[in-house]
Amino acid sequence: MSQQGFGLIGTGFMGRAHAIALGGVARVFDDVTAPRCVAVADQDPHQAQDAARRLGFERGVGDWHDLVRDPDVNVVDICTPNYLHAEMALAAIRAGKHVYCEKPLALDVDEAQQLATAAAEAGVVHAVGLNYTANPMLAVARDMIAAGEIGEPTSFSGRYLEDYMTSADVPFSWRCERRLAGSGALGDLGSHLINLLHFLLGRPRRLVASLNTLVPERADPATGARRKVENEDIASALIELETGIPATFEISRIATGYKCGLTFELAGTRGAIAFDQERMNELRVYDAAGKPGRRGFRTILAGPDHGDYGRFCPAPGHGLGINDLKVIEIHRLLRAIEHGETFWPDFDEGLAVQRVMAAMESSAAAGEWVSLDWQN
Ligand SMILES: NC(=O)c1ccc[n+]([C@@H]2O[C@H](COP(=O)([O-])OP(=O)(O)OC[C@H]3O[C@@H](n4cnc5c(N)ncnc54)[C@H](O)[C@@H]3O)[C@@H](O)[C@H]2O)c1
Repeated sequence: MSQQGFGLIGTGFMGRAHAIALGGVARVFDDVTAPRCVAVADQDPHQAQDAARRLGFERGVGDWHDLVRDPDVNVVDICTPNYLHAEMALAAIRAGKHVYCEKPLALDVDEAQQLATAAAEAGVVHAVGLNYTANPMLAVARDMIAAGEIGEPTSFSGRYLEDYMTSADVPFSWRCERRLAGSGALGDLGSHLINLLHFLLGRPRRLVASLNTLVPERADPATGARRKVENEDIASALIELETGIPATFEISRIATGYKCGLTFELAGTRGAIAFDQERMNELRVYDAAGKPGRRGFRTILAGPDHGDYGRFCPAPGHGLGINDLKVIEIHRLLRAIEHGETFWPDFDEGLAVQRVMAAMESSAAAGEWVSLDWQN
C-alpha cells in the first residue's frame, strides 16, 4: 500500500467535510494507508494557511496552480464553486494527477464531456462527490430491487427539497449566477437525485421538465443593489426510464421546512421501498405478501449487516452521518488508486448526470418531451 498525497482546493462547507474524511478514513478502514494531507489552496495565502492549520494539512497556498504543480500532491481534491471545476480538473489531469471533484462535475455537457475524455485518456482515477449513493442503506435498496424482493418496479417518485434560499432576504451568491453555478436547484440538488435514480433503476429514455424561478431578484451583499437570479429555484420532471418505468422528480431550494429532503418512493409489483435522507439510517419497506390486515411499511434500521456500517460502529441503530458518507467515498477512491478497483460515481457518471440536467433544461425551454440517446 502506498501513501497518497492530497491537495485540497477550497475550504468552505465541502472542503471541511473532505478534510474530516481524509483525517478519519484510515482509522475506519484498515485496508488503506492514511492519506498525506499535503496542501490546501484557497483564494488568498493567509486564508489558505489558516485553513491548513485548522484542517491538518502541511501547507496552505493562495494560488491553486501551485498545489497542482506540487510534486508531493498526486490527488487533487476540488471543493470550489462549480465554474472552477473544469479548469482545475483539467490542469490536474494534464499534470497526471488523480482527481476528486465535487458535484456537479461541470457547468454544462461540453465541459463534462471534455473532463471525462481527458481523464480516461490520461488513465487517472476520477471521482465525483455524489456522496448520497454511498449510504449503505441505499445499497440495501438497490440489492432488494435487483433480487426481485419488491417484484418488478412500477414507479419511482423522487424529490430533493431544501429551503436554504426560501427567504427573499438570502443574498445573491455565486449559486444564483449562471456563469458561476450553471443551473440552480437542478445542479445543486438535482444532480444527487439523478445519480440516485441511475444507481437504483437506470437512466432516463425521455423526459419533460419545467423550471421555475420564484425569487427573481436578490440583494448583492457587496453593494445592496438588486440582482437578477439567473437560474431556477424549482425543477420538476416527468420521466420514462430506458426500462419503461415511469418516474417523477421534484427539486427545490425554496421548499420551506426541508433541510436535506432527498427522498424517494419506489413501488413494485410485490412490495415498495421508501427513503428519506433526513432519516438516512432508515429504509422503509413494504411486503405485499403479508397477511391481509397486517400489511404495512416496516423500518429497517442501519446496522453492521449493511455494507460499511460495521466499520464505523459495531452496534445497529446508532447511525451514520453525512461526514461518514464522505469517509466511505474517500475509502473507495483510495481503493481505486491503490488497488485498481472501479470508482463510481466517476466522471462518466458526472457526465451522464449533466446530460440529464441538460435534457431537463432544453425540455423546459421548448415545452416538450426530450429524448436521451445513450448510445452516442
Ligand atoms: N456533495 C455534497 O453534498 C455537496 C454539498 C455542498 C456543496 N457541494 C459542492 O461543493 C462545491 C463547493 O461548495 P461549498 O458549499 O463548499 O462552497 P463554499 O462557498 O462553502 O466554499 C467554496 C470554497 O472555495 C474557495 N474558492 C473560491 N474561489 C477559489 C479559487 N479561485 N481558488 C481557490 N479557492 C477558491 C472559497 O474561498 C471557499 O473556501 C460546489 O461545487 C458545490 O456544489 C457538494
